Amino acid sequence: MINIAVLVSGGGTNLQALIDAQGTTLQHGRIALVIASNENAYALQRAQNANIDHCVVSRKYFQDQEEFTNALLKQLQEHNIDMIVLAGYLSVIDEKIIHAYPDRIINIHPSLIPSFCGKGYYGLKVHQAALAYGVKVTGATIHYVNEIMDGGKIILQKAVEILPDDTPEILQQRVMKEAEWILLPKATEMIAKQIEQEKTK
Ligand code: GAR
Repeated sequence: MINIAVLVSGGGTNLQALIDAQGTTLQHGRIALVIASNENAYALQRAQNANIDHCVVSRKYFQDQEEFTNALLKQLQEHNIDMIVLAGYLSVIDEKIIHAYPDRIINIHPSLIPSFCGKGYYGLKVHQAALAYGVKVTGATIHYVNEIMDGGKIILQKAVEILPDDTPEILQQRVMKEAEWILLPKATEMIAKQIEQEKTK
């Protein structure tokens, strides 16, 4: 089994989906570490409840991006992390980490990329933009993380219908329930299995 780090910033419902998938959908990896970008993230409580090592590495603790990145890398290395899952993580991942984990970092985004993605599109803003544009279908995407924001190769996508009375909050819940919480454990397992196979070659 490979060691997975989940990076979070908020409520952590996607982290919870991964925790719940351990031993069922998720067979080839275990969540060894949860890193939050801020101390108020409820995701930390979820990690604690599941007895998973967790810590806060906040950009504001550090003088510059380099120090912040080195602190993140230190945590990842100390826990022998093989794969990183960004689950609602709102800080920027530096090139140094991307190069240290080539094809081993995945992200979940709450739209069908390439719609409503890139700079400024996160959380509820993504659903606000989808409703404002008037698209009839949205969804979620799991993709590899590279230097371009939301620009890495797509791993899995699932479409979700938009209904006439949707608000951003209602739509966000539907996308999570019908797509995100299903796709993320599935994609994590796919990539964990690949990494494990590469390691045992
Ligand atoms: C999720 O909807 C995730 O797709 C989104 O943030 C939410 C986090 O919720 N991520 C992004 O917008 C990344 N650009 P959670 O903390 O309950 O998992």
